[in-house]
Amino acid sequence: MRAVDIIIKTRDKEELSKQEIDYLIKNFTSGDIPDYQMSAWAMAVLLNGMTDQEITDLTLAMAASGDRLDLSEFGGRVVDKHSTGGVGDKTTLVVAPVVAACGLPVGKMSGRGLGFSGGTIDKLESIPGFKTDLSTEEFISQLREHGIVLTGQSVDLAPADGKLYALRDVTGTVQSIPLIASSVMSKKIASGADAIALDVKVGRGAFMKDLEQARDLAEVMVSIGKLSGRRVIAVLSQMDQPLGVAVGNALELKEAIEMLNGVGPEDFHAHCIDLSAYMLILGGEAADLETGRKMAQAAIDNGTALLKFKELIEVQHGDVGVIDHPETLPVAPLIYQIEAETSGWVKVVDAQEVGESSIEIGAGRARKGDVIDLAVGIMVRVKIGDYVEAGETLFDVHVSDRSSFDTVFQKLKGAVELSDEPVEPPPYFWDVIGLDEKNPV
Ligand code: URA
Repeated sequence: MRAVDIIIKTRDKEELSKQEIDYLIKNFTSGDIPDYQMSAWAMAVLLNGMTDQEITDLTLAMAASGDRLDLSEFGGRVVDKHSTGGVGDKTTLVVAPVVAACGLPVGKMSGRGLGFSGGTIDKLESIPGFKTDLSTEEFISQLREHGIVLTGQSVDLAPADGKLYALRDVTGTVQSIPLIASSVMSKKIASGADAIALDVKVGRGAFMKDLEQARDLAEVMVSIGKLSGRRVIAVLSQMDQPLGVAVGNALELKEAIEMLNGVGPEDFHAHCIDLSAYMLILGGEAADLETGRKMAQAAIDNGTALLKFKELIEVQHGDVGVIDHPETLPVAPLIYQIEAETSGWVKVVDAQEVGESSIEIGAGRARKGDVIDLAVGIMVRVKIGDYVEAGETLFDVHVSDRSSFDTVFQKLKGAVELSDEPVEPPPYFWDVIGLDEKNPV
C-alpha cells in the first residue's frame, strides 16, 4: 500500500477500505507518512467528505493509535464534555469543577486553539506552573483521588489525532465533518469516559455555519459514541456571537473564575448551567434538566465548585493564588477601545471576525508550534439585541503593542452591524441530539 494511492482515491471520491484507513493512520502516527502527504489527504477529505463507514473506521483507527484508558473502576460514572470549537468558549473551565463538585468524576483531555477557535489547554496555561501533560497513570490516580482531571492530549492517547489536529490548524483543513467527528470521538473513546456531553457549536464563530451541518456532525458523533458503548448527547448551541465577554487565554480564565464566584455574563452562565445539568443527567446524578440545573447552581452558590477548581490547580502544580488574585494572571500592557460610530440595535457581532482578530494579535497560532501571547485578547462589550449609543465601547482590545491593534482595527469595526429596528437576541441552544430512554431529560 502507498499513501499517495490513498490520497488519490479520496481525491477521486472513492471510498477507502478499513485496511487503507488503518494503514494511513498507523503510518502517519509512526512518522512513516510525512506531514505533507497527510495534509494533502486531509484537504481531499475536506473537499470530498467521507461515508459514515469511513468516518467510523477513521475514528476507531485514531482511537487505537495509542493507549486507551481503562476507567472501569469508576463504575460507569466518569463524565466528559467536548466542544467542537467556538470563540470565547471557556465553558470547560467552569463545568468540569461544577460537575465534579456535585460528586461525578470528570476526566477530560482538552485541546489547544484550532483555527480561529480557542483551546482549553492554552487557557489553562495562563496559570503559572499548571501542568497540562499528564501521563495516563497520573490521569487515573488523580481522577481516583480528586475526581477531576483537565489535561492536554497526552502523547500516548490518540496520538494520531494530536498530530493531525496540529496539521489541520495550519493547513485550512479544520472545517470538515469527518475530520472534526473523528478528532473529537477518537479522543473521547481513548480517554475512556462512560458518558459524554458534546457541545456542537453552530454559526459564524463555529466550524459548522448552519444548523443542518451541525445536526449532521452531532448525529455522526452520537452514533459513533453509542457504537462504542458510551452514553452520549450533543447540544446544538448558538455561536454567531462570542460566548460571554472575554476572548483570549488569560482573559477567559479570569472570566471563568468570576463565573465560579457567581458573577458573569448571562449567556455564559446559562451555557455553563445547562451543560453541567446534561453531564449530571448522563452521569446518573440528576433525574432531569431542572434538577441538574439546580445542582449546578448550588455548587456555584455554595462555593464547592470554586474549591474544586482550586484543588485541580493545586494538584496539577499551578499557582492557586490566581483564584483569589486573578490580577496576577498575564496582563497585556495596552488596552484600546473601539467605539460605535452610530446608534442602533446590535444585529451582528461576528464571532469568526473576533476569533480571527484575537489570533492576529497573538492569542492563537499562525504556524504549528508558534508561541502564543497568553495576555492578549478582546473584551466584547455588546450582544445581539442590545441598543448602543454612538460612542459606546464595542470592544476593549488588549494588545502588546500599537501595531497589532492597528492590524485588527478595521476588521473588528466591521464585525459589529447595527440596525435601525429592534433585534431579537438568538436562543442559546437550538436542539439536543441523542436523548432516549437512557438519557431522560
Ligand atoms: N475539537 C476537536 O477536538 N477536534 C476538532 O476537529 C474540532 C474541535
